Amino acid sequence: MKPDGVERGLIGEIIGRLESKQLRVVAGELRTLDAPTAKLHYAEHDGKPFFENLVAFITRGPVLLVVFEGPADTWKVVRNLMGATNPKEAAPGTIRGDLAIEMAENLIHGSDSLGSAQREIGIFFPHLG
Ligand code: RTP
Ligand code: MG
Repeated sequence: MKPDGVERGLIGEIIGRLESKQLRVVAGELRTLDAPTAKLHYAEHDGKPFFENLVAFITRGPVLLVVFEGPADTWKVVRNLMGATNPKEAAPGTIRGDLAIEMAENLIHGSDSLGSAQREIGIFFPHLG
C-alpha cells in the first residue's frame, strides 16, 4: 500500500478486500522507503517523465509492504482487484475505481508478473527469497 493509503487510513479497507478474496498475508511491514530502494523497485520507469515525482511520492511517508499468497497466479488476482493504473478509468468495484481519483495517488502497488513479484519480494523481504 502506497503512502496515500496509509495517510488516508485505508489499511483495513484495502487489506480487507484482498483477504476477503481469500488471499493470505504471509509477510508485512510498515516502512518508509529511502530513495535508492524506491528507485530500485521502480527501475523499469527510470528516465520516464513521471519518475522523479513517483519516487518523491512513494518515499514521502510509510508504505505498508505486504506479501500475499494464493492458490495460483496471485499477482494477477491482486492486479484485478486493484483496477487500472489511472483511477479515473478503473472499474467500479476495484480498489482504485472505488477509492482513488488521481493517477499519482492510486493507493496500491501490485507486481505485474510472476517475475516482478519474485524480484520485488527479494528487495523488501530478502529472507523470503
Ligand atoms: P504500480 O507499479 O505502482 O503498481 O502501478 P501500475 O503497475 O498500475 O502502473 P505503472 O505503469 O507501473 O506506473 C507506476 C506508477 O507511476 C505512475 N504513473 N504516472 N503517465 C503518467 O503520468 C504515469 N504513468 C504511471 C502511476 O502512479 C503508476 O501507479
Ligand atoms: Mg507497475
